[in-house]
Formats: sequence, structure tokens, C-alpha cells
Amino acid sequence: MMDSERHEATPRRTALVTGANKGLGKEISRQLAALGMSVLLTARNDELGSAAAAELAAEGGDIRFARLDVTEEKTIRSVAELVDGSFGRLDILVNNAGVSGVVRGERLPLDEISVETLRSTLETNFVGAFALTQALLPALRTAGGRVVNVTSALATFARTTGSGPAGRADLIPYCASKVALNMTSVLLADQLRESGVTVCSVSPGYVATDMNNFAGTKTVRDGARTVVRFATAAPDELPDRAFITEEGVAPW
Ligand SMILES: NC(=O)c1ccc[n+]([C@@H]2O[C@H](COP(=O)([O-])OP(=O)(O)OC[C@H]3O[C@@H](n4cnc5c(N)ncnc54)[C@H](OP(=O)(O)O)[C@@H]3O)[C@@H](O)[C@H]2O)c1
Repeated sequence: MMDSERHEATPRRTALVTGANKGLGKEISRQLAALGMSVLLTARNDELGSAAAAELAAEGGDIRFARLDVTEEKTIRSVAELVDGSFGRLDILVNNAGVSGVVRGERLPLDEISVETLRSTLETNFVGAFALTQALLPALRTAGGRVVNVTSALATFARTTGSGPAGRADLIPYCASKVALNMTSVLLADQLRESGVTVCSVSPGYVATDMNNFAGTKTVRDGARTVVRFATAAPDELPDRAFITEEGVAPW
């Protein structure tokens, strides 16, 4: 077989990124496309999502848009059908969509944290990521794919004293949702080990995005690079049961 034929016989690697109309999700999509993957850029807003996909496609990436609100079962189902129909496999799923749970940017005291905020934050950051992953399992199993859950250093028990969320009642919904996501990464990795699907939680660092009013100290480029590095690492190079940061493995 000629080299070119061998190349054609290898299916193009496929990736799906959630919450990718802006911020880290958009940049992760850009970097995955730059590696030659077919990227399904998803977002809950049609207009913003298709504009982001068009911008990245104009840079030469193989990128298309699909609407996905991770809290809406209907859109999860239709995206899973689209992946099956268009790709038949999924090499990389990046569960990036997230909300801060901080209301109007205010540092609300404990007595004013609403249960509704707690519910909606868990619904997006944890339940949504789980539900989407579950819907995409057949395509992930076909590819022996990778699931990357985008997490935060704010959700490590190691940082509950000193710097971090200590003293911030308003961050309880966010931190709790990401802790749930982290535990899910570890347990899913166990569940899927035999199928060849690998799962990890990766923290991008403190990145300047809408989520923190652009107060983050890192660029989206650097934050996305960390996520993409572990999204594309060989399975035997992926730290197991680990909290992964830009500096490597850190304490949970
Ligand atoms: N920035 C940081 O320093 C930092 C640090 C650690 C972890 N992270 C994590 O990184 C991820 C990306 O955040 P970011 O910093 O890039 O913030 P961002 O710019 O605010 O992006 C968040 C994205 O999630 C989307 N989203 C929210 N709810 C959704 C839903 N129900 N369905 C689908 N998409 C939804 C948003 O869509 P809309 O535009 O429609 O709202 C937006 O595209 C989050 O999981 C965040 O927790 C960020």
C-alpha cells in the first residue's frame, strides 16, 4: 500500500466541544482543528455559535456548528444523532460549558445564596456534562475516545484554606459542581477502562474570560493549550485518577 493510500484509510479524528461560542471553548475548538481534526463546535445560542464556527472555518479548520444546551435533553439527543450520522465515532469530547453560579458578579453572603442558583449551577456544570457523555458513549467507544472535563483549582480540597474559595459563600455552587464533576471523571474512567475510553479532569488555570470579567491572569490560548494537551495525550501518558493542571498533577 502506498503511503498516501494508507493516509486516506485513516479516518480523520473527530472532536466535540461544548460552550464553544466564546472563551476557552472557542479556543479549544480552534486548537483541535489546527491539529487536523473535524470539530463539532457547539453552543446554546445559534447565532453566536454559528458565527464562532464560521470564523474558525475561515481560518482553514474543518469546523461545523451544532446547537447544544447541555441542560436540554432534546438537544443532547439530536447532537448524539448528528455525531453518529456524520462521524460514526468521537475521538475527543470536551465538556467545557460552564457557569460561575455567581449572581450579577456579587459576593453574596451565605444567607443569600439561593437554592435555585445551586440547582442551575449543578445542572449545567455537572449533570449536563454527565448526560452528554452518556449520550455519546457509543461513538466514544467506537473510537476508543477521550473525555476531558474542564474543571477548576477552586474545586480541590487542597485549596480550601489560604488562597482559593475560602471565605466565598458565593462560590459554593461552582465549587460543589466541579467537585461532583471531578469525582465523575474518576469513576467514569474506571467504568470505561475496558472499552478503551479514557476520562480526565483538566484545570486550565486562571484564564481571562467573561466568566471572571477578564480578571484571569492567563490568556485563553494558554488555558486551551493545557486542555488540548491532555485531550490529545496518548492513553498511557494520561495521569490516572489525577487532578491535572497546566503544571501537571496537583493534589485534589
Ligand atoms: N476562566 C477561568 O479562569 C476558568 C478556570 C477554571 C475552569 N474554567 C472552566 O472553563 C470552562 C469555560 O469557561 P470560560 O472561562 O471560557 O467562560 P465563558 O467565556 O463564560 O464560557 C462559558 C461557556 O459555557 C457556555 N454555557 C453556559 N451554560 C451552558 C449550557 N447550559 N449549555 C451550553 N453551553 C453553556 C456559555 O454559553 P453562553 O455564551 O451562551 O453563556 C459559554 O460559551 C467552564 O467550565 C469554566 O468553569 C474556567
